[in-house]
Amino acid sequence: MMNDGGDIMVEEINTNEFSEMPDDVIDNNHTNDHVVVLQDVKKDYLVKGRSVPVRALRGATLEIEKGSMVAIKGESGSGKTTLLQIIGALDVATSGTAIVDGKDLSSMSEMDLTEYRAKTIGFVFQSFNLIPNLSALENVELPMEALNVPKMEKKNRAYELLKAVGMEERVDYKPMKLSGGEQQRVAIARALANDPSIILADEPTGSLDTKTGKSIVQLLDKLRKKRGTTVIIVTHSNKAARACDLTFTIEDGVIASKKNLVQEAETEGQKSHLKKELAISGSIIDKLFDAGYDELMKIGNANQEELSDVLGDKGSAEKIAKKAGILLKKKVAELETKKEFLAIDLSVTEEVISQLFGAGYTDLETIAVADAEELGHLLGNDDLAIRITEKAELLILKD
Ligand SMILES: Nc1ncnc2c1ncn2[C@@H]1O[C@H](COP(=O)(O)OP(=O)(O)O)[C@@H](O)[C@H]1O
Ligand SMILES: [Mg+2]
Repeated sequence: MMNDGGDIMVEEINTNEFSEMPDDVIDNNHTNDHVVVLQDVKKDYLVKGRSVPVRALRGATLEIEKGSMVAIKGESGSGKTTLLQIIGALDVATSGTAIVDGKDLSSMSEMDLTEYRAKTIGFVFQSFNLIPNLSALENVELPMEALNVPKMEKKNRAYELLKAVGMEERVDYKPMKLSGGEQQRVAIARALANDPSIILADEPTGSLDTKTGKSIVQLLDKLRKKRGTTVIIVTHSNKAARACDLTFTIEDGVIASKKNLVQEAETEGQKSHLKKELAISGSIIDKLFDAGYDELMKIGNANQEELSDVLGDKGSAEKIAKKAGILLKKKVAELETKKEFLAIDLSVTEEVISQLFGAGYTDLETIAVADAEELGHLLGNDDLAIRITEKAELLILKD
């Protein structure tokens, strides 16, 4: 049945003939790593019968790294779709610059823009937008028609793409016969038909249940990693955003923040752990983290004066540093004990244990499943490595 995205392979497709750039490519060295650069982009919509235009974008600035997957979040009406449409050249900015794939969109001719939309950009929509009376295969073939791809090649590539999204057993199905998630898979295959640099996905999981939505985001992630495609996802879902390298928040037509949600969650975890260990308040932890004191070691070894400055209070700085120092000592002692026990268990020298710990092999479980060759390399002794992993395995089995 439906593939959950776990074992999707993308076949290599020969795209040489599609990779010729138009003549007016701007070779902006400084934008080499950024496939999208928006600088102060504004978009006004003139509405019939209204003297004041709708200011959909009020100066959006952002840079998106090549090959990354980014989320764009924001309330309804904040300008997300407008932003995508400008990147995809479905709409023209009122002012500001939009450089995509090295091309300044505002200076391109209508003909070049048509080619740009067909070759550089792949669109994915909330409502899938498949053509109802065409099969899945024909839907995927469609974008290739604009580029006059020969019939057989078109068929083969469409098939390979449907295979890549786990839909090879549904190539002859019309959209009506497919579930929402399956339709979106076909739509993703269609978006990839001309091997674009960028996929623009406007709320691609908005019409799907949570689980299916997750599998669609995973699929996009897998495909972009395999193909080097940049993916820009407009989404309301925090889950989807967490799968992305970066999340831009748009508020009232401007980019209000840029965050890495995964990293942020990690930092929150570290904070709450340290907060518990040191038994201090959240506001003190925030001050410490803001000043770069984000681990016990740094706090325990901090310069007293600096720490007082950070916390604005000499007394609590002393108290916290002292507590951190005690906890550190305790941890070091625990580590030494752990090392001693492991040395006895494996009957190896302290030196070998230090080497193991240094490389992250700090318990029997990790050592038991270690790659013997890697371990042999680390210890400079293959026989010893084999003996150690076997012993670790044996001890775990005994337990
Ligand atoms: N073609 C249009 N004509 C007039 N106003 C528009 C048009 N497209 C969007 N808008 C307005 O621009 C603002 C931003 O819209 P949009 O980019 O679709 O927001 P989002 O995708 O974040 O919901 C909204 O106030 C919307 O009503
Ligand atoms: Mg929208």
